[in-house]
Amino acid sequence: MVKLTEDMKVVFTKNMEKLFSVPMATASKEGVPNVAPMASVWLEDDETFWIGDNFMVKTLANVRENPKVALFFWDPETKRCLQVKGEAEVKTEGPEYEIMHRRIKEKKPQMPAKSLIIVRIKEVYECTPGRVAGNKVL
Ligand SMILES: Cc1cc2nc3c(=O)[nH]c(=O)nc-3n(C[C@H](O)[C@H](O)[C@H](O)COP(=O)(O)O)c2cc1C
Repeated sequence: MVKLTEDMKVVFTKNMEKLFSVPMATASKEGVPNVAPMASVWLEDDETFWIGDNFMVKTLANVRENPKVALFFWDPETKRCLQVKGEAEVKTEGPEYEIMHRRIKEKKPQMPAKSLIIVRIKEVYECTPGRVAGNKVL
C-alpha cells in the first residue's frame, strides 16, 4: 500500500467540493471494463478510500470477481489530476460497514447503503495535462 501526501489529499478534497463525485473503473474477470460515478467516497486514511454502495450493479459484480479498481480525481482550479489504482474488498457487515451505513443514512435516509467497498491504494499516477502526465508518483 502507498500513502497519499498532503498535496494529493487537497486534490481529492477540491474534487469532492467542486465536482461532487469520482469515476470508479472496474473490470470483469474477462477484462470487460466499466466506469461509474460515485459520490459516497471518503478518504478514510492516507492509504484507503471507502465507497458506499447504493446502486452498484456491474461495479459490485466486477469487484467481487476482480478486486482491481481505478479512480481519478482532479482539482478544476489547478487542473492537477491523480489516478489511483487499488484493490477492493466488499463488506456487507461488521464495524466498518456499520460506520458507512450510519454515515449515509444520516445524510440521506432513503439510500440503501447496501455494502461498503474498501479500496486500498496500490499506485498513484499523475493525470495532470502536460509534462508530468502519466508519471508514477507513488
Ligand atoms: C453523480 C453521481 C454520483 C453517484 N454516486 C454513487 C455512489 O456513491 N454509490 C453508488 O452506489 N451509486 C452512485 N451513483 C449511481 C451509480 O453510478 C449508478 O448506479 C451506476 O449504474 C453504477 O454503475 P454499474 O451499474 O455499472 O455498477 C451515482 C450516480 C451519479 C450520477
